[in-house]
Amino acid sequence: MMAISFPESLVSAVRGAKKVAVMTGAGISAESGIPTFREAQTVLWSRFRPEELATPEAFRRDPKRVWEWYQWRRSLIANARPNPGHLALATMANHWQKLTVITQNIDGFHQLAGSRNVLELHGNIHRTKCFENHHFAEKLDLTSDAIPPRCQQCQSPLRPDVVWFGEMLPQKELSAAAEAVGACDLFFSIGTSSVVYPAADLVFAAIRRGVATIEINPAETPASSSFSFSLRGAAGEMLPSLLQAAWPQ
Ligand code: OAD
Repeated sequence: MMAISFPESLVSAVRGAKKVAVMTGAGISAESGIPTFREAQTVLWSRFRPEELATPEAFRRDPKRVWEWYQWRRSLIANARPNPGHLALATMANHWQKLTVITQNIDGFHQLAGSRNVLELHGNIHRTKCFENHHFAEKLDLTSDAIPPRCQQCQSPLRPDVVWFGEMLPQKELSAAAEAVGACDLFFSIGTSSVVYPAADLVFAAIRRGVATIEINPAETPASSSFSFSLRGAAGEMLPSLLQAAWPQ
């Protein structure tokens, strides 16, 4: 690993923290090979923008297309693994009294990497529910050829249990996230463009509290200048280096 040098004030903020809240976005999974939302889609799906697929209207209009887009994303995720960024974060939790990982990602990689206290603001692609009545589907009925498959209770088409544009975030997760942000003494924003609300509200709430805040992102975001430290780099390099700098071994 290439040594990255961090300001001593940053390293001691990390080392001395007790309650930490972390907001993550698509960027933390980029190095696992999962494309972020605002980068070009693959050739297969390049004609569609996520904003045109991840909505209830898109699903009503063309449920098969939306279902197949998620099937494609499910297979990307199934063939990928958490990367050193997810893993370093899970290890850092051992050094703090409390770590709350608030994620906009639906891939479940934080949990796979060993993080325990994870709040999924945008749902999880591995869960399926029906469109009309939100009945959860424990298993899919693969005996039928219907795409999307149908709910076994009410015959409504099935969809992933993720939050689409125009839908409410899960209230329990959102209020637990606000509580963690309100109680933290160190906050990280990792791999998120901070342009999608209400998740971005949490980032700005942390900044307003005046606690130490660290952004990790190879690109500048609308929030970059407001952080105590804005680190330009990939999460999969920055987080393992920061772990090593704070707790050398
Ligand atoms: P975006 O695609 O908007 O932003 C990803 C961010 O990750 C960008 O700022 C990149 O610069 C940064 N990035 C890229 N590679 C990185 C790396 N290796 N390490 C760290 N950062 C990296 O994704 P989100 O902010 O997650 O919502 O988008 C928020 C929401 O908008 C998503 O959850 C999704 C989306 O449309 C829904 O599906 C409701």
